[in-house]
Amino acid sequence: MRVLVTGGAGFIGANFVRRTVETRPDAHVVVLDALTYAGDARSLDPVRDRVRLEVGDVADPDVVDRLVAEADLVVHFAAESHNDNSLTDPSPFVRTNVVGTFTLLEAVRRHGVRLHHVSTDEVYGDLELDDPGRFTEATAYNPSSPYSSTKASSDLLVRAWVRSFGVRATISNCSNNYGPYQHVEKFIPRQITNLLDGGRPKLYGRGANVRDWIHVDDHNDAVWAIVERGTPGETYLVGADGERSNLEVVQDLLEIFGRDRDDYEVVADRAGHDLRYAIDATRLRTELGWAPRYTSFREGLARTVEWYREHEDWWRPAKARTEARYAASGQ
Ligand code: NAD
Ligand code: DAU
Repeated sequence: MRVLVTGGAGFIGANFVRRTVETRPDAHVVVLDALTYAGDARSLDPVRDRVRLEVGDVADPDVVDRLVAEADLVVHFAAESHNDNSLTDPSPFVRTNVVGTFTLLEAVRRHGVRLHHVSTDEVYGDLELDDPGRFTEATAYNPSSPYSSTKASSDLLVRAWVRSFGVRATISNCSNNYGPYQHVEKFIPRQITNLLDGGRPKLYGRGANVRDWIHVDDHNDAVWAIVERGTPGETYLVGADGERSNLEVVQDLLEIFGRDRDDYEVVADRAGHDLRYAIDATRLRTELGWAPRYTSFREGLARTVEWYREHEDWWRPAKARTEARYAASGQ
């Protein structure tokens, strides 16, 4: 099988590519990635002899058409992915997330290629902290940020291309991922690398906001389950019952590092900060037989800390400029 992976040099995409190569010897993988600040070709080093990397833009119709024409399956991860950046400058989010997905849809339509579109639970907006409910496939779209609104737009384009043109596409909406090779701008790697540098974790607001954490390998196993056993045209929610407040995550990390549980710093809150995300993944579990392998968040977190401890050469180059960007907005 010839698999085109967009955004395959980013966090989830690179983990997907490595896992695919390791578990599917018959897969021929091509990565299309623009290598923005968030993409890193070194994340593919362990499998470079089995993967072709094409540096290019998912919103460029010529390169996309050429690569889709050679593929049996496209798995679409490429996106601008960070909420804070979308508040500073939304324009690349519209171009990559909306125009990029449109460009890909037109190419898979022309060539009759199967598409899996990787999306986020943030398309549903947020829940109150004390709401007993969780997001399901039937929850109405209600995105809050420039990032999540462009992801919602991309999902709606996929749904329209399925209905209007018969494109064979599935969508997954996943909760917050953690694991190796995640950019240091994101919450967990930012705090781990602050702690490795002897600094303090930085909490937005009081740390009451809740995220539903899933290990990146569990997410990627779900993507393969949907590709292999899902129904084209359908949407599947991906989550591993990992709800935790940001304060709880920071205190877990402080404990892992043997530091005082209150040794963190409160910084400026995010504008429009979503309160809580929570996924009901019943459909994925019952219809497709998927289950997470990382059932202890604390254990997955400790392994992630070890990965960052052992891979300083990977994260160090991005750390100072990322912190300089945060400092400019009081974060
Ligand atoms: P990331 O920012 O780590 O990686 C994004 C990758 O896309 C990078 O390699 C980047 O170079 C590439 N890219 C950006 N613009 C491009 C363009 N115009 N053309 C080609 N490549 C481009 O993101 P991630 O966290 O790995 O997220 C991957 C996907 O999963 C995104 O679609 C995101 O919305 C979705 N998602 C992420 C999470 C999460 O917790 N990180 C959860 C659910 C869904
Ligand atoms: O829910 C899925 C989404 O999860 C994905 O679609 C996004 O691509 C991904 O970035 C993530 O979005 P969040 O905004 O939830 O993730 P982030 O890592 O930016 O922040 C997680 C929480 O931690 C959020 O409530 C903000 C808070 N935070 C973040 C940073 C960077 C802090 O308290 N301190 C920080 O330094």
